[in-house]
Amino acid sequence: MAERPRVWVSQPLFADVIGRLDEHFDVVGTAAVTQHSPDAIAAALREADGALVTLNDAIGAAQVGGASRLRAIANVGVGYNNLDLAALSAAGILATNTPDVLTETTADFGFALMMATARRITEAERWLRDGHWRQWSFESLLGGDIHGATLGILGMGRIGRGIARRASGFGMRVLYHNRSRLPDAVEREHAAEYVGFEALFERADHLVLVLPYSPANHHLVDAAALARLRPHATLTNIARGGLIDEAALADALAAGRLAAAGLDVFEGEPAVNPRLLALRNVVLTPHIASASLATRRAMVALAVANLIAALDRGPDAGRPPSPLNAEALAGGGKRSA
Ligand code: GLV
Repeated sequence: MAERPRVWVSQPLFADVIGRLDEHFDVVGTAAVTQHSPDAIAAALREADGALVTLNDAIGAAQVGGASRLRAIANVGVGYNNLDLAALSAAGILATNTPDVLTETTADFGFALMMATARRITEAERWLRDGHWRQWSFESLLGGDIHGATLGILGMGRIGRGIARRASGFGMRVLYHNRSRLPDAVEREHAAEYVGFEALFERADHLVLVLPYSPANHHLVDAAALARLRPHATLTNIARGGLIDEAALADALAAGRLAAAGLDVFEGEPAVNPRLLALRNVVLTPHIASASLATRRAMVALAVANLIAALDRGPDAGRPPSPLNAEALAGGGKRSA
């Protein structure tokens, strides 16, 4: 009997959902959440025809160099800065991601984090738990309003638009900046006004980052950009930590040059800059914007469907739902099954 393709799954991911892979492949799983070293990833990929990985698994030329059987990598996440797409395409390896299924959940969280940041919710809870609440006081823990405020969205893709839709229910004015301006009809639908990068920072009461990260926009939000924010403004990041110069952000927060920041993502995660940890006016969450049970399961299901199809199995054989480098598919990949 012909050998079944072998698939590596880099993390524990809802065993019942991942179980669908067993119908088609020999699956090598990972029993516990693991930070794989670059060499360990290369070793696992050397033995695999396909892999299902997460944003913790950085994969580039060094990892796929010796992976002569590898044909497809399914990333469980919409962001794919952990994958060097050029290196994968050059090696004839198809990559896929998980768009759409997480849009609304992630937009919910972005809005919630922005609100928690503006209204000082976690700071207030910490203060209460620490036993400081001895007398109700009219002037303590005063925050900024959401309703009627100006929301700035940097990155007006699917999730950015989801946040804009939520903002309309709060009577916010929505400004956005994007690499390319959206068509008039989309702007009208989201009641969103296009402004330049600098103007977005200067005019937003609450600024939310939702743009894809790549080396080209590393530390896009630097000291100069932060200096454009007004002292009452908040900054929320649900995209990738590398977009912000965290040292400059800590300086600005400590000096009161902006009111507060809400951060779900960090440059060196899971490590968090100790200066941010020490500041009272930062809401910190451990990269959970897409983490509702239903959505995390849907993301894994989509990655599984991508991998099955990319490895030419199942009803959608050869037509994975969300390819990132279709050229690898169009070229037939480097090998067929
Ligand atoms: C999470 O950060 C994702 O990109 O899906």
